[in-house]
Amino acid sequence: MIKVIAVKNAEELAQKAYEKIVSVMESKNEVTLGLATGGSPLGIYALMRENKPATSHVTTINLDEYIGLEPTHDQSYRYFMNDQLFNHLPFKATYVPDGIAADLQKACGDYEAIIAANPVDLQLLGIGENGHIAFNEPGTSFDSPTQVTGLTESTINANSRYFEKKEDVPTSAITMGIGSIMKAKEILLIASGEKKAEAIKQMLEGNVTEACPATALQHHANVTVIADEAALSLC
Ligand code: GLP
Repeated sequence: MIKVIAVKNAEELAQKAYEKIVSVMESKNEVTLGLATGGSPLGIYALMRENKPATSHVTTINLDEYIGLEPTHDQSYRYFMNDQLFNHLPFKATYVPDGIAADLQKACGDYEAIIAANPVDLQLLGIGENGHIAFNEPGTSFDSPTQVTGLTESTINANSRYFEKKEDVPTSAITMGIGSIMKAKEILLIASGEKKAEAIKQMLEGNVTEACPATALQHHANVTVIADEAALSLC
């Protein structure tokens, strides 16, 4: 059963999610956090920069990276994470998939080994308008490991808001698979805004189907969704 925490707006969402993340970070001497990019976690990372919780015992593993963007490219997810979080707080280690690896298949295998060596205690997730999680688009196998994937038109359109023009959005990415994500001991999915309402309804109330990747979470034993009124408006 997915636990749902309804909040008023994005600000309250960030506060609640931040508190949950800090409680996990404080629970053990060694912690691994699975982290996400996109607009949804921005408020959480701002609270982390402001409150500076202890992080030197925390390893982070990010979900995904665009293929072809250098870590110094301001739209790469490595750049995003450095800018929002890693340049501000001292983590034990920070991992983001290597989107410019000469051998991308090897990079995927290496990333799975990193996940295996650092089992994720809490995985933070956003959700795409089409129900994708990380860059696992509709149709992705629920067993998938870290892999190279093409992006759908819906995702390219949605993410083009961060780029100068739509043609600049990479068309492929390296992403933790749904199988990799499901290994996390606990999952925290956050969503705000009306554009996510359909995906949230599907995830919570729809049949479990690879056509909506987020429905895989119905089969995980410990998932919490924090969503605002707009994102929950169709439920
Ligand atoms: C991207 C990311 C996802 C993210 C989703 C939603 O495609 N790969 O990890 O959850 O978009 O992004 P946003 O939070 O900006 O709406």
